[in-house]
Amino acid sequence: MQSLTISGLEKRFPGGSVAVGGIDLDLRPGSFTTLLGPSGCGKTTTLRCLAGLEVPDAGRIQFGDDVFVDVAAGRFTAPHKRHLGMVFQSYALWPNKSVLGNVAYPIRLRGGSRTDAETKAKEALRTVGLVGLEQRYPHELSGGQQQRVALARGLVSASGLLLFDEPLSNLDARLRLTMRTEIRRLHDELGYSSVYVTHDQEEALAVSDYVVVLNAGRIEQAGTPHEIFARPASTWVADFVGFDNILPVLEGDADGLTVVGGGGMAVEAGRIAALRGDSIAFRSADVDFAHRARPETVSATFRGRVTSSSYLGDAYRLGVEIAAETTVIATIPDSSRDQTQEKYLGEVHEFAVAAQDVIVLP
Ligand SMILES: Nc1ncnc2c1ncn2[C@@H]1O[C@H](COP(=O)(O)OP(=O)(O)OP(=O)(O)O)[C@@H](O)[C@H]1O
Ligand SMILES: [Mg+2]
Repeated sequence: MQSLTISGLEKRFPGGSVAVGGIDLDLRPGSFTTLLGPSGCGKTTTLRCLAGLEVPDAGRIQFGDDVFVDVAAGRFTAPHKRHLGMVFQSYALWPNKSVLGNVAYPIRLRGGSRTDAETKAKEALRTVGLVGLEQRYPHELSGGQQQRVALARGLVSASGLLLFDEPLSNLDARLRLTMRTEIRRLHDELGYSSVYVTHDQEEALAVSDYVVVLNAGRIEQAGTPHEIFARPASTWVADFVGFDNILPVLEGDADGLTVVGGGGMAVEAGRIAALRGDSIAFRSADVDFAHRARPETVSATFRGRVTSSSYLGDAYRLGVEIAAETTVIATIPDSSRDQTQEKYLGEVHEFAVAAQDVIVLP
């Protein structure tokens, strides 16, 4: 298995917009890596540079011994010579070719005989569970089946590297779950390296060994899914991965700390030294009423009046005003029988967050 190395990758488009602003990555052989980030952050452009569909302005990409592109040395390998499989969001199937034809075509393009192409295509169709549908045309398939054809076509083209650009975003929620498990299984079974683009955090968490968070064409953070989701390194990543309470700390002493806006929080003494000038952050879902929290795990407590309450079925999302300018969000589980639309509104409560759920951001 080969490793994928990207160094100094840059891509600007006419008009001056910087799509990729200097990316360096070293991906382990056989790893499943996800590029995660909001719309416009450069995910597709990075993937297209890997595939050879885009020529970068600077940088170098190497997969095993193959130099895909090296701008400084004037090297560029044509897309079909990179032997990688790419699966797009739009499937991009040929409407006038049968299922078998769609999958066999890339092999024919590479000079394979008709028999060879059909044998390999049938094998790939078996792998993705489409036996029996070889003679149908794309318009005679469901969305999920079309995506499987695209996947099979990606598989026959690849000899080690698979690229995915939001391959599941046109499928319904249930099929997305099945297909993402399938993609991961195929990756493991075939021993390929995969680079997978998504803006869906849960998907990234579920399938990846390694997550690269992109923001405006640059890497904000790269690490295991656990590192990214439990220990984001910057306010931007924390916000992106759902830390909906980020409170800059003004000052702290043994009695607790004061956050911007003047609200107070009692925080476990050992943590206070690290907090001055930093922010503390936690997810609203990790907040509970203090009386329900196990005292030995509590790290931060705060008290405030509930100024907004929305009913979520089995929980309430509460806005808790801890000072005139400072509101903390708390999502409180509630499966009691007395659920009403605006329960808790106007009440004053004490809340707690466990130590493991509170992070400190620079
Ligand atoms: N062909 C192009 N010409 C000009 N600008 C482009 C072109 N392709 C992409 N861009 C710009 O480059 C930036 C990165 O685009 P890219 O498609 O890589 O984003 P993305 O992360 O894939 O976003 P999305 O999640 O919406 O697919 C955007 O600002 C986009 O407008
Ligand atoms: Mg994109």
